[in-house]
Amino acid sequence: METTSLSTSRLVLSVPAAEDAEAIFTIAGDRATVAHNPSDLLADVVEAQELVNRWIQHWRDRGLGYWCVRETGQPRVIGYCGVKAMSAHGQPVLNLIYRFAPDVWGRGYATEAATAVVAGVAERHPDATIIARVRPANQGSQNVALKAGLRRDPAMDEPGEDGLDLAYTNRVAASSR
Ligand SMILES: CC(C)(COP(=O)(O)OP(=O)(O)OC[C@H]1O[C@@H](n2cnc3c(N)ncnc32)[C@H](O)[C@@H]1OP(=O)(O)O)[C@@H](O)C(=O)NCCC(=O)NCCS
Repeated sequence: METTSLSTSRLVLSVPAAEDAEAIFTIAGDRATVAHNPSDLLADVVEAQELVNRWIQHWRDRGLGYWCVRETGQPRVIGYCGVKAMSAHGQPVLNLIYRFAPDVWGRGYATEAATAVVAGVAERHPDATIIARVRPANQGSQNVALKAGLRRDPAMDEPGEDGLDLAYTNRVAASSR
């Protein structure tokens, strides 16, 4: 693992550590943050610890993964954002996610973090398909995907854990340049 943190103008993104589990539980244990993806709801901090351990292992295995997001100079984890290697429509993809605590919504943080993640992943893995899979009613998330440089890619739509997911990818963005 080469990179352990990534900075944007207002945010610091860090590779997760086991101690981040409580903060991740605060975020993904809040029904407001999983309103469109209820299957992501964490029941307790033990589930958060297991989740964070999987994130750490993914970093070790793949050299990329989810980042914990903090405001510069602040200790609190306000969200997480990053990519996970998986398969969609039988193809290897890097699945982009972002989830932030409700009290920081509306400040452009998800856009800022997702833009940095997409740019960094695209630079290091230029041939990778980056995909965001978003529930149809989750307008905020669709806006973030677009602002991060992804474009609607209906051929990659597929049923997810919580119903149909609309796909946004960098395949269309790249081919329409
Ligand atoms: C979706 C989410 C990540 C957006 O985070 P955020 O930091 O508030 O997003 P930003 O401030 O960067 O806003 C990005 C754009 O989306 C818009 N937006 C944000 N939330 C919105 C909402 N609920 N409805 C409509 N538009 C919304 C913003 O206005 C902005 O567009 P603009 O710059 O043209 O005004 C945040 O609401 C969240 O964590 N939600 C719960 C988790 C989630 O749904 N993740 C995505 C799963 S696919």
